[in-house]
This record gives sequence, C-alpha cells and structure tokens, in this order.
Amino acid sequence: MTDTASDLLARIRVHGAVPRHIAIIMDGNGRWARERHMPRAFGHRSGMKAVRAVVEASLEAGVEWLSLFAFSQENWQRPETEVSALMALLEEYIAREAAELRQQGVCVHVHGDLSRLSPPAAAAVERVRRETAGGDRLGLNLFISYGGRAELVRAARMLAEDVQAGRLSPEDIDEQSIHRRLYTAECPDPDLLIRTSGEQRLSNFLLWQVAYAELYISSALWPDFDRVALYEAICDFQRRDRRFGKVST
Ligand code: IPE
Ligand code: IPE
Ligand code: MG
Repeated sequence: MTDTASDLLARIRVHGAVPRHIAIIMDGNGRWARERHMPRAFGHRSGMKAVRAVVEASLEAGVEWLSLFAFSQENWQRPETEVSALMALLEEYIAREAAELRQQGVCVHVHGDLSRLSPPAAAAVERVRRETAGGDRLGLNLFISYGGRAELVRAARMLAEDVQAGRLSPEDIDEQSIHRRLYTAECPDPDLLIRTSGEQRLSNFLLWQVAYAELYISSALWPDFDRVALYEAICDFQRRDRRFGKVST
C-alpha cells in the first residue's frame, strides 16, 4: 500500500464510521481509452484493475457490501462489438479472479436479467457464485444486464403473484415487502453511492435502495480509480451529517 493509502486508511479507522455498503457506478472507460487513442474495449479491460483495487480496499477498510454496476440493461443498445467485448471481459474476470476472491472471503452475487447472457457468460456467473459461496468478509454484488426500474417491476410482479395466490393481502404490503423482493434483499441499503467520470446521474441504478445514500461524484475516469480514490470517498463520507429528515444531534 502507498503511504497516502495507509494514512487515509488510518484516518478512516480512527473515525470509525465505515459505510457498511458502498455502491459504485463505474463510468468513463470509453473516455479513458479515447484519451489514449485506443479502442473503447481497451478502456473496459483497464477497468478490471480498478475493480480489483476497490475490492481489496473494501476488504481492508471493513466494508461489508460492495455493489458494482458493470453493465446496464440500456448498455445492450451499444454496438455488437462492444457488447461482445464486455461479455468476454466478464468471463475473463471470473476465470482470473474467482479463486482469489474465494481465498479473500469474498462472496460474489450477480444480479440482473441474466436470461440475456450468452451460454458461456451465464456459465461463468454460475461458476463464480458456486466457488465463492460462503465467503463471509465481503459481499460483492455485480450488476449485469440490470435496470433499477426493471427490478421494481419484477418485485411488483412477485407481489401480485403472492396476492393472487392468497399468500399476501394488499393491506399487508409495506416497504419491507418490497425490500424483500429486490435483488438486494440480503443487504442493507447503500450508505455511499460513488459515480466516476464526473457524470451526475443515476442511470437507472438501484433506484429504490439509494433513497438515503450519500452521493459522491469523482472526476476520475473508472480505470484511474484506485485504493486512494476509494479511501478519499470514504473520508468524505465520514464528514457528512446524515440527518434522515431529522434535526442534527
Ligand atoms: C463504463 O464506461 C462501463 C460501462 C458502462 C459498461 P463507459 O463505457 O460508459 O465509458 P464512457 O462513459 O463512454 O467514457
Ligand atoms: C451506467 O453508465 C452503466 C454502467 C456503469 C454499467 P453509462 O455510461 O451506460 O450511463 P449513461 O449513458 O452515461 O447514462
Ligand atoms: Mg458511460
């Protein structure tokens, strides 16, 4: 670890309030590649190193859940060559990292409309889930072929089915009933939502879950985001006054 990274980590530990769940919209791979006169796929490949860095930094800081937006439902509309390059990288990431993630105690969950994945990509997803099941230091949620509205539609459909089957009555539907039908039913809501590349929008990520997340926009393009950048975001989070609609204590 660099000096800066260990200083920041020490500061985070002294403060003590580490976000339990960090969500990241990993954006800017294409611009990073363009700055280097390289194809977009080169930027996506370089982004893998940043994924490794934030997973390791989260483990060290004691974050319990890390949610990464890797591929949106809307991203299927990109050119075929880019979509295939991204799917190939997903398979490569899993092939290269699954064993180490398991060793580090990371449990990988993959969420989204996985019916659209190619058979090899779907097999890779199954493999990483199986091989890392039981990891108890960090839950890593990878969102692939994911849209926040589609996730809410899915939950509404499950509720309707339960009502129709007589398992649930409409007046018993509350926020918990929705929470339990989301992909993230197992985790607390994100405390901190980071977006890289300076864009200030949610792009359909975790619409329900980020209701009270602290937002942090980093100007770094995703391949340049590293351990220090994550620790800076956590330090910034620790200076926030989270009121949840009440008055400060
Ligand atoms: C993020 O980088 C990765 C994905 C959305 C899959 P982009 O590919 O969106 O990069 P920019 O925003 O065009 O720079
Ligand atoms: C959001 O980034 C999706 C992911 C990071 C996977 P995009 O680059 O697709 O979002 P927009 O198009 O800028 O909103
Ligand atoms: Mg983008």
